[in-house]
Amino acid sequence: MTDAAPNPNRPGPPMAMLAELTHRCPLSCPYCSNPLELTRKAGELATEEWSDIFRQAAALGVLQLHLSGGEPASRGDLVALVEAARDAGLYSNLITSGIGLTRDRLQALDAAGLDHVQLSLQGVDAGMADRVGGYRGGFERKMKVAGWIAEIGFPLTINAVVHKQNLDRLEDAIDLAESLGARRLEVATVQFHGWATVNRAALMPTAEQAKRTHAIVRDARERLMGRMVIDYVPADHHAQFPKACMGGWGSIGLNVVPDGRVMPCHAAHTIPGLVFDKATEVPLADIWYDSPAFNAYRGDDWMQEPCRSCERKTVDFGGCRCQAMAVLGDPAATDPVCSKSPHHQDLVAKAIADGDAAESDFTYRVLGA
Ligand code: SF4
Ligand code: FES
Repeated sequence: MTDAAPNPNRPGPPMAMLAELTHRCPLSCPYCSNPLELTRKAGELATEEWSDIFRQAAALGVLQLHLSGGEPASRGDLVALVEAARDAGLYSNLITSGIGLTRDRLQALDAAGLDHVQLSLQGVDAGMADRVGGYRGGFERKMKVAGWIAEIGFPLTINAVVHKQNLDRLEDAIDLAESLGARRLEVATVQFHGWATVNRAALMPTAEQAKRTHAIVRDARERLMGRMVIDYVPADHHAQFPKACMGGWGSIGLNVVPDGRVMPCHAAHTIPGLVFDKATEVPLADIWYDSPAFNAYRGDDWMQEPCRSCERKTVDFGGCRCQAMAVLGDPAATDPVCSKSPHHQDLVAKAIADGDAAESDFTYRVLGA
């Protein structure tokens, strides 16, 4: 037997793991990043399977565990899972809409060792938030949950997903996050994966909104310095250069989906030909370091021009593989968001057209029959 050649693109250990505990969710946001084909409850991993994955992750070097979904509070064993994360030595962050959390449950999560809560915001009032989330009474409930989070003393991040139909209230969203005592606010413009692709014209910001958002975020960052940090994911279809998606493919983080498959990002399943091992069947460390799916876009051998000879390739890693796949049908192409891509002008023209389209009804995320 010959030894395998060393992998020249072997990364360090991952820093963070996103555990998509379930695809179940009481909300049905039209921009949900979950796949169009959702995993049903019967296909989800059991408590002990997740706990084992958390231990494997910690042994691999993961520091932060993001508990997500769907709505992670839909899992009846959420407290036990947080305990398992704590016992594994992981810093745990609960990414939630708040629906399904009571004061008692939050206290139990606190006692189990939950370190941080990230609460999503669909809008700044009940009319807007409940329409976007497709859940009547959701906003009122969320505000109650935010109050309990503050009382218990969890550090809080507000995650405001912004798009054409709520961007004009961004200043109000910033004020609301401040009044809820958030230490961090994510202003995350919708990314066009998952259900957002179905709702493109209803969600795409106008070019003017995209420009205005930069100025609002800049001013708010200055005003709130030392009180609240603002992370900002701009509208990349109106940008000149792409984001460094996932900090580079298979570089700093991994996602585990409800049935235990491990992926480099939440949309990786859209790339044909990649096979994702389950962490219940293959050791997580082997998946991270050695699986063909994780090695597919590490380093720069896979890159095409103009990325291959571009000075920014170590900054943005050629952008988002899943976006290149979705727009161009080629996951190794330069992300068309990049102004150096021959397809950039087409992308911008379509984004402007979708941005200018009249506000329309949403197609809501559904778990299916
Ligand atoms: Fe980034 Fe590629 Fe564009 Fe260069 S050509 S800026 S590496 S996406
Ligand atoms: Fe998959 Fe960007 S979402 S690489």
